[in-house]
Amino acid sequence: MAKIIALNWKLNPATEKEARRLALLSDKKGVVLFAPSIFLGSIAEKTTKAALGAQNIFWEQRGAFTGEISASMVKSVGAEWILVGHSERRKYFGETDEVVAKKLEAAARAGLKIILCVGEPWSIRKKGVEEAKKFVARQLKSVPRNVSLIVAYEPVWAIGTGKSDVPEESAAMTKFIKGITGARVLYGGSVQGENILRFLDRQEIDGVLIGGASVNKTELKKIFNQVQRSHLTSQNRNRELRRFQA
Ligand code: 13P
Repeated sequence: MAKIIALNWKLNPATEKEARRLALLSDKKGVVLFAPSIFLGSIAEKTTKAALGAQNIFWEQRGAFTGEISASMVKSVGAEWILVGHSERRKYFGETDEVVAKKLEAAARAGLKIILCVGEPWSIRKKGVEEAKKFVARQLKSVPRNVSLIVAYEPVWAIGTGKSDVPEESAAMTKFIKGITGARVLYGGSVQGENILRFLDRQEIDGVLIGGASVNKTELKKIFNQVQRSHLTSQNRNRELRRFQA
């Protein structure tokens, strides 16, 4: 199955015009673009290959909840994906595992494809990988039964710091998460052009979730160049294999 390149723009860019321009640069197969929801409808008109997603929803479908948006609203503007449980939502907006569970249920009910973010803070990871696994396992308990999703492992200390996880360690965490959930697992945290292949080339890791670099045009170009290179290499590998087996 092809690897997923998920782009999380967070609170960027500043204008709709820039958003449309950025979306065109990222409009490629295998890309899932998590844009600010206010831009989604406009971006949907511009893109043909990338899939679109929202960064947040409320768990209710309608009613007196000023400022919120629902899963069905997201779908109605042409987006199919949703991010749930991002560490920035947990940190700045007080989202607990209970809130995460409600959002997962609402998203699944509306038929959105879900990426659930999990990951430990440095205070836990510094005690070792086993402690980090326990932390992540607790976060995964919020997944309601019968909700199918993709998990993004994003160690909090690696987000926006320029210090990505060691690929071997995130691959081990990926295996651990797969053992619990059976889900596909992405890695996120300071992924850039320079290090993306170290994660994508790991067979256990099903893709990446990229923040800061996804709104930086120079980095974005580097990222897609690298992805293209790795794709060609794997095509050659498969061709060689077929020739060998013939
Ligand atoms: P950075 O790529 O900026 O570290 O952010 C990762 C992230 O939070 C993606 O959801």
